[in-house]
Amino acid sequence: MKILITGGCGFVGSNLAVLFKQFYTDVEVYCLDNLSRRGSEINLKKVLAFGGQFVHGDVRVKTDFDRIPAVDIVIDAAAEPSVLAGKVLGELENLIDTNLNGTINTLYFAKKHQAGIIFLSTSRVYPYDTLAEANLIVLQKRFNLSNDQALQGLSDQGVAENYPLEGLRSLYGATKLASEYFIQEFAYNFNLPAVINRCGVLSGPFQMGKIDQGVIVLWMAKHLWKGKLSYIGYGGIGQQTRDVLHIRDLFRLIQWQISNLGQQRCQIFNVGGGLTNTVSLAELTSMCEQITGNRIEISSSLEGRPGDLPIFVTDNAKISMFSGWKPEIRIETILEEIFLWLRNDHKVLKSILS
Ligand SMILES: NC(=O)c1ccc[n+]([C@@H]2O[C@H](COP(=O)([O-])OP(=O)(O)OC[C@H]3O[C@@H](n4cnc5c(N)ncnc54)[C@H](O)[C@@H]3O)[C@@H](O)[C@H]2O)c1
Repeated sequence: MKILITGGCGFVGSNLAVLFKQFYTDVEVYCLDNLSRRGSEINLKKVLAFGGQFVHGDVRVKTDFDRIPAVDIVIDAAAEPSVLAGKVLGELENLIDTNLNGTINTLYFAKKHQAGIIFLSTSRVYPYDTLAEANLIVLQKRFNLSNDQALQGLSDQGVAENYPLEGLRSLYGATKLASEYFIQEFAYNFNLPAVINRCGVLSGPFQMGKIDQGVIVLWMAKHLWKGKLSYIGYGGIGQQTRDVLHIRDLFRLIQWQISNLGQQRCQIFNVGGGLTNTVSLAELTSMCEQITGNRIEISSSLEGRPGDLPIFVTDNAKISMFSGWKPEIRIETILEEIFLWLRNDHKVLKSILS
């Protein structure tokens, strides 16, 4: 089997590439990446060390795909993944060109080779303005979702796929939702096997966490190297809560999806750590303190940022019913693995992540 991973030197792409090479001796993995994300050049070394093939190219440039041989599966993981991106002009063009036009170029390539498509979409397709109105249970160190919710698709188990899409979702969320629509049309019109995974927060080693994306790694790195952090919004005490999925749990699902791609008919699945794997920023602080043995000062900013959410939890019921897949790796293990990766590779990572 031959697999193309666009964004193959990013956090998701490089992990998947390495895992494919570790699990299967007969899989060829091509990683297309323009190395625009800081730190992706470090992930590239891991990909090459495990026998992945690198194509230095840009998904915005359709002809860059001509350098890749025919493949069986395309995993679309190239993106500008920040929910805050797009506020300044250059950034906006890159966001739309990479996330939407880049996906369309990827679709042309998949169509040319009749390849199956796995799309890494995001929970950010769900509107933040209605999600911000969810009924919460406010605890001292976190928020929980109440079981009394007005909107369909929302319960104390989290957000399901039938949550209404009307509303604002960020420029990032809009590019990903628009991409979903094109994927569905290509899949239907050109008979391409496909599946769309709307992922919540993903984490694990190789994630180059920064203030606007990759918060779990950012939090651990700042504790390890004694940097500065801030609780932003919601009273500035870190109650905002997310579910977190380990990248290896995502890989297990993608293994199943590749084996059963024909069955999936370009369905959309929410994919996340789920209710049992949620953590608030305040809780994350305690865990990072415990693992690193370091305490750092965390400032407070009362003012939130556009698109902020008090809580997001993925309701995995649909994908679990369909495939039998469930997340297995607990948040504590995710943090331990991140810590070990940062400590072992500190020479190359400290300047990027501290
Ligand atoms: N990390 C998460 O928590 C998360 C959650 C939901 C969805 N996703 C989705 O998963 C996918 C992968 O995200 P990630 O966390 O690995 O992000 P990442 O930034 O770590 O990886 C993206 C990779 O794409 C590359 N890239 C960016 N623009 C490119 C271009 N024009 N041409 C070629 N390569 C380009 C970057 O250099 C980087 O290596 C994205 O589509 C993102 O929307 C991620």
